[in-house]
Amino acid sequence: MIRVQTKFTTNSHSSEGDNSLFARIADDIREKGYSINPSAMPAELIEPLYEHVVSMNAAKFTSAGIGRGEKYTHSKFVRTDEIAWIEGNSQAGRDWLDWTKTLQVYLNRRLLLGLFSFESHFSHYGIGDFYKRHKDAFRGEANRVLSVVLYLNPGWTVADGGELLLYPADDGAMDVSSKPAVHDAMECIKVTPLMGTLVLFLSEEFPHEVLPANRDRFAIAGWYRVNTSVSDRVDPPR
Ligand code: OGA
Ligand code: MN
Repeated sequence: MIRVQTKFTTNSHSSEGDNSLFARIADDIREKGYSINPSAMPAELIEPLYEHVVSMNAAKFTSAGIGRGEKYTHSKFVRTDEIAWIEGNSQAGRDWLDWTKTLQVYLNRRLLLGLFSFESHFSHYGIGDFYKRHKDAFRGEANRVLSVVLYLNPGWTVADGGELLLYPADDGAMDVSSKPAVHDAMECIKVTPLMGTLVLFLSEEFPHEVLPANRDRFAIAGWYRVNTSVSDRVDPPR
């Protein structure tokens, strides 16, 4: 059974709020490679996303796999969550995709990342579900560049578990010249998956893990990608 709570508070929407959030994200990514933003998202964006995900028919979710294209497999040892891709069939989903597009344009202007496309899915972790330590992209495969996670869990407490663990960037993962000193000192960061918290990190740099939760846990996971299509080969589907 899904426990639903309806009381939560978040920032009210304003483009000014978005601008300062976008600026903070850009600064964080440039300086540290990751950005953690509690109660960051405009309420009129996340409340409908939350209503949508908790009311979604269970049949819309499929058990999550690992890898892309021909390498796609399922492993219950690695992850046990279920996912539903956001294709823009709901108003909430469309508004989310519009918002992530605005952020994409902003980050490309500020950081010259060349972000080309965005893909995202809802995820549902039932009690005890987990996702073991992994990276969202591998060096040289240059597809997923920037990972985004948005949490949709009102009233989440420490007792509920289900934290995201963000490990320090792999040694040598960042260009030495651009590697900020902070990486050497960075401890593992534990993020509570509370409603409205938005996390971003460089997909190739940061191993991470989802700890088992003690209640249903909802989130959106998304990835900005660069264009890896070449003339004779279309970028493989997810
Ligand atoms: C993922 C992922 C993190 C989270 O879906 O790849 O790492 O906290 N999700 O849900
Ligand atoms: Mn991941």
